Amino acid sequence: MKRTSANTTPEYKMFMVDDEWGKMDSLSVITKEKTHAQLEEHSLNTVEGLRMFVDAKDVYMRGHSERVAHFAVEIGKAFQLSEEELELLRLSGIFHDVGKIGTPDAVLFKTAGLNEEEYEEIKKHPLRGARILSAISMFEEIVPIVKSHHERVDGRGYPEGLKKDEIPFLARIITVADAFDAMISDRRYRMKLKFEEARAQLLQGAGRQFDEEVVKRFDGEVLRCWEQEHRETAPVAADGEKL
Ligand SMILES: [Fe+2]
Repeated sequence: MKRTSANTTPEYKMFMVDDEWGKMDSLSVITKEKTHAQLEEHSLNTVEGLRMFVDAKDVYMRGHSERVAHFAVEIGKAFQLSEEELELLRLSGIFHDVGKIGTPDAVLFKTAGLNEEEYEEIKKHPLRGARILSAISMFEEIVPIVKSHHERVDGRGYPEGLKKDEIPFLARIITVADAFDAMISDRRYRMKLKFEEARAQLLQGAGRQFDEEVVKRFDGEVLRCWEQEHRETAPVAADGEKL
């Protein structure tokens, strides 16, 4: 059918309507795709910006958050969690300690042990982190995970002293990933543990500090592979020991 303005047959009118709707549909798809791409870019920028902000506060923590995210996602895979849940674990791992932005430097950077008052100050960071993240709508779902990443299954953790299933499951995963990476990393106030020492501490804490099933999966399905890879690529010290 010829498209001219002189063509006013009912069929042409019908064609025009279909065609215009078709154009509008395509336009709407393009607009939606563009909006989605823009939103995704904004989200990535938000994550990257906040991450740089956290890193800038404490150079010792650089890398820790990414390793926590990595371990947490691997544990999540061992539980066959959905892609959405794995993404929540990744973001929670990256931002679990974002609340330390508000911890005084004198406490955060102290090389000696903390006194009671200083420890109380440190204990504020999960709630502070949850408050910061709750101001950004895209982080809404990780707020309870970040808030509970220092809870213990025996109820002796903080900030709320939650027990077992009261602690969100994804938070129980972050707790194990966080504790293990902390143990195998050097900190200002102590040297890192060797792999087997860290593994032993993790197993000892199962059912008290950590969720037993999470430790079991982490040990059985994640750590074995990680240790093997780590040993294969680890540098060798002068005495022949793997570092
Ligand atoms: Fe923390």
